[in-house]
Amino acid sequence: NPSSIVGSKSFTAVAINCAAKAGEWVKTKLGTVEQPHLKVSVADLVTEIDRGSERLIRKLISTHFPNHAFLGEEGVEPGAAASSQAIAAAKDAEYLWIVDPIDGTTNFVHGFPFFCVSIALAHKGEVIVGVIYDPISDELFVAEKGKGAYVHGKRLAVSKEQTLEQSLLASGFPADPSYALPLNLQSMVHLAPKVRNIRAAGSAALHLAHLAAGRLTGFWEYNLNSWDLAAGSLILQEAGGTITDIEGSPYQLEVRNVVATNGHIHQELLQELRKSNQ
Ligand code: IPD
Ligand code: CA
Ligand code: CA
Ligand code: CA
Repeated sequence: NPSSIVGSKSFTAVAINCAAKAGEWVKTKLGTVEQPHLKVSVADLVTEIDRGSERLIRKLISTHFPNHAFLGEEGVEPGAAASSQAIAAAKDAEYLWIVDPIDGTTNFVHGFPFFCVSIALAHKGEVIVGVIYDPISDELFVAEKGKGAYVHGKRLAVSKEQTLEQSLLASGFPADPSYALPLNLQSMVHLAPKVRNIRAAGSAALHLAHLAAGRLTGFWEYNLNSWDLAAGSLILQEAGGTITDIEGSPYQLEVRNVVATNGHIHQELLQELRKSNQ
């Protein structure tokens, strides 16, 4: 039971406690949502459980670290512009918690068992702790900057595939039908015949965690937000993987168009994505 890994007031212990408590609570609410609310479209949902999970996490963090800044998805106005503004305004804080209270809300609403709680702590814009908890598989992914990434004490390492041809990739169908969705459909059409296969399981954070665990070879997606990526970016890098923006520049909190891999296929994937959008 991950809630029992509590006790000290270290950043990581608090992050683990929050992710475990919130994830366990969210799991008890599976199948109870009758009417999700719509954000910008019918493809962009929010429920009382997203809001409740964020409240629970925010309260726990503020009890331990009242002076730390907090950025949670459900505290930000819907839409890409507001999300970009929110991270730009918050990222220079000395300590900033970046929280996705449920990553995979659509899956949660439909009862498809692939969603998680994602919590990152950034110090002056650099992620130093990342925790992702999947309450269905009961997997808790934890990374601390410079100290490796672990799932229940087992060290994570990325996979060994060397070419796109051998790769199992993941991506997503973005909610935004005007820009990100058509762009990504183009990329999928271009890449599908060049790779072993592509999954779109509906949680960016869990895609990154599984990539870190060597179960996927690469992941890309357009128009994501800081709370989708922050924790997973550290977990992946600490497992030996590479994460950049679509141009190949190093990951930072503002990145929206992301490419993440086991490292070996990174340049090849960047190149094919570039071609797909020309
Ligand atoms: C979504 C998930 C999904 C991705 C979307 C995200 P949410 O997050 O990560 O996999 O394709 O773009 O918005 O809204 O479920 O937290
Ligand atoms: Ca959402
Ligand atoms: Ca998300
Ligand atoms: Ca969310």
